[in-house]
Amino acid sequence: MNKRITAATLAKAKAANEKSVWLTAYDTASAGLAEAAGVDVLLVGDSLGMVALGFDSTIPVTLDHMIHHTAAVVRGTGCSDKPGAWVVCDLPFGTYQQSPEQAFETSVRVLQETGCDAVKLEGGVPMAETIRFLSDRGIAVVAHIGLTPQSVKKFGSYRPRGNNPAEHDAILEDAKAVAEAGAVALVLECVPAELAQTITETLPVPTVGIGAGVGCDAQVLVWHDLLGLSGKNPPFAPAYTNLREQITTAIAAWSGDVRKGTFPEQ
Ligand code: KIV
Repeated sequence: MNKRITAATLAKAKAANEKSVWLTAYDTASAGLAEAAGVDVLLVGDSLGMVALGFDSTIPVTLDHMIHHTAAVVRGTGCSDKPGAWVVCDLPFGTYQQSPEQAFETSVRVLQETGCDAVKLEGGVPMAETIRFLSDRGIAVVAHIGLTPQSVKKFGSYRPRGNNPAEHDAILEDAKAVAEAGAVALVLECVPAELAQTITETLPVPTVGIGAGVGCDAQVLVWHDLLGLSGKNPPFAPAYTNLREQITTAIAAWSGDVRKGTFPEQ
């Protein structure tokens, strides 16, 4: 069996100035494909709710949804000729913010019922105590700051963060707080590139950018955006292929054959 990626692999990559590759995944087949393509980390993001479950935000995503899909992703790893991908599960809205104890109970369920490697939660300074509580109890925690989609009802939009001095300084404080609390990686979503670079250069924790410029230690994209399945990509996430067109063309071709009576062949 091939070696698996671990949190230590990501720390070593940062120390060696080597970029790591993260991608979201939501099922067994996509996990296997991404790992075979050499992706280091599979993030079962709560973007699941928007790209795969038809919700209009991540708020309705439940812990049972996340566990169901993360277990499927874990089952898709370890089968390629590449190192087994490190699998991270997003803790969904309402399952960790109440107290460190609530976050611990949720994380234990996630780790025991899915076999994944780490949990991710949104928030900086206000979540530092929780990150420390989990980390002190042996749980690998990925922090997520900048644009935090679970707070969309508070901010009213998915606008980028950190473009005014107050937000800029607050994000820097968030990054320091989660790094000191023991986060093993830090997702920076939609923050200015120079801020992401400063955080990357000054803190020991590996940074993972999405809409945060080229200066991060790793990059993450949403599966549907990368592969041209979403139909509407954010400006920082150009599609590398157009699977939406390829899939609809193939289905329409087969459908036409069925209607003409030429499928199946005699
Ligand atoms: O839910 C998700 O997919 C994420 C990434 C966009 C970082 O949190």
